[in-house]
Amino acid sequence: MGGPGWEPPGAPERSERQQRFHRTIDWVDGAVVIVDQTRLPGEVVYLRLESVEALVDAIQRLAVRGAPALGVAGALGVALAAARHSDADERAHAVHLLETARPTAVNLARGARRVAAVLPSFDAALAEALRVRDEEIVSSAEMARRGADLVEKLCGGDVRLLTHCNTGGLAAVVDGTALAVVFELHRRGALRGVIASETRPLLQGARLTTWELRRAGVPHRLAVDSAGPFLMARGEVDAVILGADRICANGDVVNKIGTYAHALGARAAGIPFICVAPESTVDLATATGADVEIEDRGAAEITGATAPSGTAAVNPAFDVTPAALVTAVVTDARVFSGRADGADGPAVG
Ligand code: MRU
Repeated sequence: MGGPGWEPPGAPERSERQQRFHRTIDWVDGAVVIVDQTRLPGEVVYLRLESVEALVDAIQRLAVRGAPALGVAGALGVALAAARHSDADERAHAVHLLETARPTAVNLARGARRVAAVLPSFDAALAEALRVRDEEIVSSAEMARRGADLVEKLCGGDVRLLTHCNTGGLAAVVDGTALAVVFELHRRGALRGVIASETRPLLQGARLTTWELRRAGVPHRLAVDSAGPFLMARGEVDAVILGADRICANGDVVNKIGTYAHALGARAAGIPFICVAPESTVDLATATGADVEIEDRGAAEITGATAPSGTAAVNPAFDVTPAALVTAVVTDARVFSGRADGADGPAVG
């Protein structure tokens, strides 16, 4: 395992403080409790969110983030609305705030609408929201198994992967999507190491993915986003594996900005480009990536302290990778290439 340059060479790091981290998001004693991802990797801080407004704020400043976790947030948020608001208009307003807190990951609105469908009963809403949570937990395990099987089939053992953004337990409830596959390959002894790209501008890769990989004892290195295609060209990556915020009917993958560049690099280098996401991220109602609203998070996140004051900026948080560049999509139910709606033939497996 490991090899020169891969970190960490030793046992998993699990300080007492880190061990306490269990679920990214959950319902605890009448409120939504999340791990505040803006505080990582420095410290594990739990936030207890007792109102829909507090939850929406946490979603918008990415204290809770990642498509599956957003789906659970939307679902639990509607249960919170049912607990706090007896007036139908107030509840409807709360559901609207949740659905529209961020536009790109389909899971958020989908989770909120699924629970809103059983309102006004609080008991029914909470039961449905907990089902959404539990389904994401089960689906992580299924994706890990299917994805690891696929990577071993395509690349053999001793594989070197590159991943982008954060797709681990922090982006879901536990385990995650693409990073769950990485963890599973590591458990199987089939992984030499993984390169995490830092994921400008909010550094989900540098802050969160490295933190999760270190906790799990998975050999890893950090690279700037723009190094990805060159590292692939230089033969240092056997496959790219990452997640999605929405997979469209035609198979286009909408994911964190920088994904498209890695897909182009993978195609040029002739290596597999694998997307891992639950079926809850597959959106057959959206025809292509061009139909997806791409969140723009404004100039301040990228100009920060580095650019001259007043510099104009464009800051799309996500991009669209055309289906033609995607070797395979792994979900909790299937592995497919091409269209997500199956209109171009049967699933791969
Ligand atoms: O802006 P974020 O951090 O919510 O973006 C997250 C991503 O783009 C992830 O890659 C995606 O949600 C998949 S998470 C399993």
